[in-house]
Amino acid sequence: MSLPRLAAAVATACCLAVLPLATAGPAGASGGPGVPDRPLRQLAADDRLRIGTAVDTSALADDADYRRLTGGQFSTVTPENVMKWEVTEPRQGEYDYAAADRLVDFAHRHGQKVRGHVLVWHNQLPSWLTSGNFTADQLREILHRHITDTVRHFKGRVWQWDVVNEAFNDDGTLRDSIWLRELGPGYIADAFRWAHEADPRALLFYNDYNTEWTGPKSDAVYDLVRRLRAEGVPVDGVGFQGHLGIQYGLPTGMAANFARFDRLGLATAVTEADVRMEMPADAEKLATQAEGYRLLLDACLRTRHCVSFTVWGFTDKYSWVPSTFPGEGAANLYDEDYRPKPAYRALQAELTGRARPASAG
Ligand code: XIL
Repeated sequence: MSLPRLAAAVATACCLAVLPLATAGPAGASGGPGVPDRPLRQLAADDRLRIGTAVDTSALADDADYRRLTGGQFSTVTPENVMKWEVTEPRQGEYDYAAADRLVDFAHRHGQKVRGHVLVWHNQLPSWLTSGNFTADQLREILHRHITDTVRHFKGRVWQWDVVNEAFNDDGTLRDSIWLRELGPGYIADAFRWAHEADPRALLFYNDYNTEWTGPKSDAVYDLVRRLRAEGVPVDGVGFQGHLGIQYGLPTGMAANFARFDRLGLATAVTEADVRMEMPADAEKLATQAEGYRLLLDACLRTRHCVSFTVWGFTDKYSWVPSTFPGEGAANLYDEDYRPKPAYRALQAELTGRARPASAG
């Protein structure tokens, strides 16, 4: 934790007029000394920022605490899985948007915006697609149709779409995927054009991980979006996923990296923040984790058009981390019993009394 910054945030918070108490969690969390206990979404609104979470729609249906925090703490939601191709088009031409529609309705009732995730990716594709023997022309038409039908279905109800996800390798070369192999690199521009035709008002994002700092991968994304913009391709923003692990050390230079995308006239967003650790967790690791979250949010708040900061789930009770990274976990803002962790407090403090550069949001 950078002490001068935290001290400044706390000092500002202490001198504000009495603020409404809000439910930080079922465990009855107080804001701690000097930190007002307002929900993240209220604090973020003061900074003209949307704060979001990925939503596990089964938990949303079954777990009242999860539901209350999803609605109470966040001003945007991302479906963690239910807008992915394997869910929305399990058989060719047969769509199932039921689970996604329920989440979009929930968002509407709670005054939340929706990040659509995801249209073109190499993972979680239905098997009819990956094991079908399609020609390149057929596959192009399949992709065109899927994008058009899906974006049209949610037209006017999705704020930002992750149009293309994880198209690059860490060395900056294009990832070998079904799309690159069969359609060539032009699939990226086509996907943005097709999404734009289907909903001209949605903000269209390129989204990836390990791009938060400067390096070959973020350079490749930068070159891509700069070229697409120059060619008139409708790309509006770049999403930095923000999956960090404290064992690798916390990244530096994120704000400077976000800034160069901002200078291209693009929106930016942190789209999937979580900060994992090798288990078991301890106080020191949780403090480092809090600093990781704070750094990600700080980079966003310093960036003029960083429009949203989304965490990839908010409670350790439901997290993709333990099953994806064996031996790692505790990556979220709340523990398994919905007690807010130091990371939650760090975001609260960081959102409090921050002056953003003009014309954010
Ligand atoms: C993950 C989900 O969290 C898991 O539940 C699922 O099993 C696999 O996908 N980058 C992305 C997300 O863009 O879609 C991934 O979500 C996490 C990494």
